[in-house]
Amino acid sequence: MAKTINVALIGQGFMGRSHSNAWGQVNRFFKPELQSVLHTVYGMKGEPTPEFAKTWGWLHTSDNWETLIKSPEIGLVDIVTPNFMHAPPAKAAVAAGKPCACEKPIASTLDEAREMAEAAARAKVPTFVWFCYRRTPAVALAHQMVKSGKLGEIRHIRASYLQDWADDSVPMAWRFKKESAGSGAHGDLNAHIVDMTRFVSGLEVEEICGAMATTFVKKRRIIEQDSGGGIQLSDEQMRYAKAGGGAEQFGDVTVDDAVSFIVRYNNGAMGTYEAARQATGNQNANGFEINGTKGSVKFNFERMNTLEYYDATQPRAYQGWTTIMCTHGGDHPYVANYWPDAHLIGYEHGFTSMAYDILQVLNGKEPTVPLPDFNEGYQTARILEAALIAASEKRWVLLDSVK
Ligand SMILES: NC(=O)c1ccc[n+]([C@@H]2O[C@H](COP(=O)([O-])OP(=O)(O)OC[C@H]3O[C@@H](n4cnc5c(N)ncnc54)[C@H](O)[C@@H]3O)[C@@H](O)[C@H]2O)c1
Repeated sequence: MAKTINVALIGQGFMGRSHSNAWGQVNRFFKPELQSVLHTVYGMKGEPTPEFAKTWGWLHTSDNWETLIKSPEIGLVDIVTPNFMHAPPAKAAVAAGKPCACEKPIASTLDEAREMAEAAARAKVPTFVWFCYRRTPAVALAHQMVKSGKLGEIRHIRASYLQDWADDSVPMAWRFKKESAGSGAHGDLNAHIVDMTRFVSGLEVEEICGAMATTFVKKRRIIEQDSGGGIQLSDEQMRYAKAGGGAEQFGDVTVDDAVSFIVRYNNGAMGTYEAARQATGNQNANGFEINGTKGSVKFNFERMNTLEYYDATQPRAYQGWTTIMCTHGGDHPYVANYWPDAHLIGYEHGFTSMAYDILQVLNGKEPTVPLPDFNEGYQTARILEAALIAASEKRWVLLDSVK
């Protein structure tokens, strides 16, 4: 009989659904030695938890996360609440000796991120941050290519994560408030590309400059209906908001809509980062280009099954960008467990593949490619904080000075 671990899911919004799917699918697609049991899902009072549990296959429900985390039946705590609600359950989980997986950005403030990393180190329990894009086969392949020296020495990285969902008609939600989100596009989107480029390139940021943070929409309508986290408005809620529904009441937006910054890495390479929620036409354009002395790679999640590769070691006459379809099970990470060549995978597979690697680590095995833990989440948070300091003080910031 397979070994099992009981998972407690803290939250049940957009990520609640995506993680529920992953914890269910991982056993079917990967058949891990240690299998996940969808034990208990937590939802705030008033949320339709029993309905959610039935839909996604959770055995039990809870509206008290503190009691749930302490339950001896729970073996892994998985946190999918808004950013300000990461640190309290995460610290409680590791203090109770429970492995803990937490959504990104790791926390809403740098202090919380540091405390989480320190608590995890003290407790010596495995922790994970859901930087799920590391597990896109094309991104994992890019990581392997850089590691094997195929790109030579990295000189340039340009990364951008552009979305366009947050136009003026989108009503107030937790994502637009500093006290619940910490930052806007920065923590939401730059967090992903900072982690992804650290992972692919293996480089570390040393200094940050040229930063700018902007909020275009300074007030948003507070609608009477639940605004569903902002990114996930139902059609009905969107029609309601766009038609001017809800009280004639507006709230102040206290986070950025867009943040860009420039970095220098520890090998002298240069990099640029750009996150935006109103980059019209870019719906989930999460990507990077990395240029090395022997070649380059380019990735855009909107075409997530492919990686662009330029091999500068070929004779000059034949050099050019090639598009690699990263769906060949024999060569490309994770895909052997899904479908045959070019039977494409999607967003949810990144979470299922990450659930697999988490189960592998909890079973004493190596993950397919490295997993980010709370300390890595904290390192990314330091870079994001340094960029905000550079933007507000209009100066260069040494990362060493940001703890
Ligand atoms: N990895 C990714 O690609 C990705 C994508 C989207 C969101 N996220 C992250 O996932 C987290 C959740 O985002 P989401 O889009 O699922 O949000 P959401 O608004 O859809 O859902 C949040 C859920 O958290 C719970 N919750 C809300 N307020 C709470 C409170 N005060 N106390 C306790 N529980 C509360 C509720 O169950 C709610 O359903 C965020 O940290 C976000 O940055 C990651």
